[in-house]
Amino acid sequence: MSVTVTAPAKVNLGLSVGPLRPDGYHEIATVFHALSLHDTITVDHASEPSVTMDMRVLGVVPQDADNIALSAVNALAVRTGHQPHASVHIVKRIPVAAGLAGGSADAAGVLVACNELWQTGLPLAELADIAAGLGSDVAFALQGGTMVGTGRGERLAPVLAAPSAPLHWVIAASGAGLSTPAVYRALDEMRDETGQHVEEPAVSMELMLALRAGDVRQIAAALTNDLQPAALRLRPALARTLQAGLDAGAVGAIVSGSGPSCAFLAADAEHSVDLAVELSSAGVCDTVLRATGPAHGVQVQSVQSL
Ligand code: C5P
Repeated sequence: MSVTVTAPAKVNLGLSVGPLRPDGYHEIATVFHALSLHDTITVDHASEPSVTMDMRVLGVVPQDADNIALSAVNALAVRTGHQPHASVHIVKRIPVAAGLAGGSADAAGVLVACNELWQTGLPLAELADIAAGLGSDVAFALQGGTMVGTGRGERLAPVLAAPSAPLHWVIAASGAGLSTPAVYRALDEMRDETGQHVEEPAVSMELMLALRAGDVRQIAAALTNDLQPAALRLRPALARTLQAGLDAGAVGAIVSGSGPSCAFLAADAEHSVDLAVELSSAGVCDTVLRATGPAHGVQVQSVQSL
């Protein structure tokens, strides 16, 4: 038997970063937004856990024990008492180390796919609990949609009255990723340097009202990311990428999560095509992708018995 699922990328519409916690994570308040851009993950029965990648984007993903997809196989096996008997194949369309939670998507996909393959029948709540142990964004990738994340991002609550019409995004991605811990460290350093008092993180009321109104320009104006200055410090060229998108007519521009991907909000589908073309020719990034949001969380595409 083999099981195939899809798992979405995300952008953070708002990302407020609080103080560094004793466990090395930062308390955050964020609005996650799942994108139609997705990886496809297929799992098969196998005597040993393994992972293979079909890279449709630039970047390198470890295929050894450091791969978060393998950690997900093992974590589900430990929780259920099942042997970790699965080979994982990933069609990778989400850029790597890009601030789009591609690794988290793969881990979430593996949890759902192996739960089906092994017929272990864990409910979503229990998969979400395992997901939280694998990474801060994995639980969100399971659920998708537009959700508020608190804690280190693993505690989720739906955004009520989120927009019904899709938002149209253009993503400018780089072949060279940024390390998430390095970006959080850079933010801490910048705050230390300026003696900034770090507040408890909070989702902005402006963003929640904009989402409720479903107004693209209002949403664009309310996009915020505390990690953006830190990503810009580590990768100053991103300032040019953001400006190029705005010059090309994007209604909103933001670094996605810890970067280096930049996410641009377009007025509508047609505008997103024009924006993507202009950004491609501006020479400010390696890859330009179009996506809509909000998208579903992990979805089972097919279950095939051999
Ligand atoms: O949970 P995840 O593996 O995605 O986190 C990667 C790293 O990013 C953490 O080890 C930590 O350095 C940083 N991080 C953080 N606060 C968060 C999420 C991630 O400091 N809320």
